[in-house]
This record gives sequence, structure tokens and C-alpha cells, in this order.
Amino acid sequence: MRMQLATWPEVETYLRTSVGVILPIGSTEQHGPTGFVGTDALTAEMIAIEVGAKIDAMVAPTISVGMAQHHLGFPGSMTLRPSTLICVIQDMINSLAHHGFERFFFLNGHGGNVATLTAAFAEVYAESSFGTAASNRPSLRCILRNWYMGEKVRKISKEAFGDDEGSHATASEVALTYFGFPNDADRVARVPLDPARAPTGTIYDADDYRRQFPDGRIGSNPGLATEALGKQLFEASVEELCEDYCKFIETA
Ligand code: NI
Repeated sequence: MRMQLATWPEVETYLRTSVGVILPIGSTEQHGPTGFVGTDALTAEMIAIEVGAKIDAMVAPTISVGMAQHHLGFPGSMTLRPSTLICVIQDMINSLAHHGFERFFFLNGHGGNVATLTAAFAEVYAESSFGTAASNRPSLRCILRNWYMGEKVRKISKEAFGDDEGSHATASEVALTYFGFPNDADRVARVPLDPARAPTGTIYDADDYRRQFPDGRIGSNPGLATEALGKQLFEASVEELCEDYCKFIETA
């Protein structure tokens, strides 16, 4: 059930049988000439909605802007500083905990969010450890799962793309969005990529990124992305994350 499409009495009823919630988190940043700016948020959200529907789990609103300072050299990219994003995550968790949610399953679509999410979880736990949380607050548990890190998903992308998968604007994430948003895919998928596979390297700030990777991709050839492969990746990820979520909500 999507929280945004639920009424408050429905959320109250849900809480009588479950204290678990899925929180999709992504980013708003360039994904090369053939990938959507919203890729990381769209992928996390589409998978979260399907997982929630399959196993009757509540899905919170997506955090669509993440930590992406290094992408600011490209129009459309937006970022929250790590310190801001930590506050956003912490406040969302505390809001939901106020109503009785205790198990927070963050379904992530952006590698750049990982360090900040981990720090935010530590802030939440520190409130309990220092005794600064409300005395009646139950033990909260937070977990992070990246949709693209599951065993089955990685196997599909390795077989389909090999070294052309890359590390930014990956063939897999672009394929997933082409499956989810085929009409918009038709518009962007034919844009030529030169070179076909982008270079790789280390990145620092936004200017450095744009200088080294002028079209925005790193190491990837998203020209290989198809709607059919996106469907396979979607189904594999949904299956793996349903299992992960069900295990997680049993956590003591
Ligand atoms: Ni991405």
C-alpha cells in the first residue's frame, strides 16, 4: 500500500498488524544523454511500489533528491548536502516512529546515498543509546538495500552487459527506466553515444566530473539497455527485495 494513496484510518489499521515500512530513496541527477535525470528515484520507487503490493507492505513517499553534489555540473541535477539529507532521513523516521512504525526498510537507487544513509541510521540509534529519544520509543531498526546489489540482479546485468555495465548511468538502471517509462524512453534512447562505452576514473567535485566525463556517464554503455532487459531486472529485484523485507521485519 502506498502511504500517499492511503487514508489515515487505513494507516492506523495497517499498524495493528505491521510496524514495517519501505522508504524508497533515490537522487535527481544527470544520467548521460540517454538516461533520465530522475533515474535513481524512479527505479527505487517503481520497485518499492511493486514490493509493497506483493507482500502488503506500506510504502512511504520517495526521497527523490539525494546526495549528488558531484553531478551539479549538469543541468537538472540537484543535491542535498550530507548534513541536510541526514536531517531529512532522521525526521522522516521519527515522524513515522511517532505513529508506531519500528522497522524502516530503505530501498535505495543511488550509490552516493549510502554513506549518508548509514550516518543517518547512526544518528537515530544514538538517540536511543544516549537516552535522548522519548522514553516510550520502542527499539527502531533501519536497514539499507540497493536494488542493484542483489545476486540475481547482478547475474542478469553481468550476462547482458558485462564490462559495459559501468558505474554511472549504468546499462541496468537505464534499462529499468526504459521498462518503467517506455514512452519517454522512445524519445531519448536513440540519441547517439560517443564513445559507446564511457571512460572510467575517480571523481571529486562537480567541475572535475564534467571535465573528465563530458557526457555524464562513467564506464557504461547504456546503448545496450532495452525494455525487455529492464523487465528481467525489475522482476529479479522485486523478488529479492520481497525476501529481504520479510526477513527484516522479523528482526528483534
Ligand atoms: Ni543512477
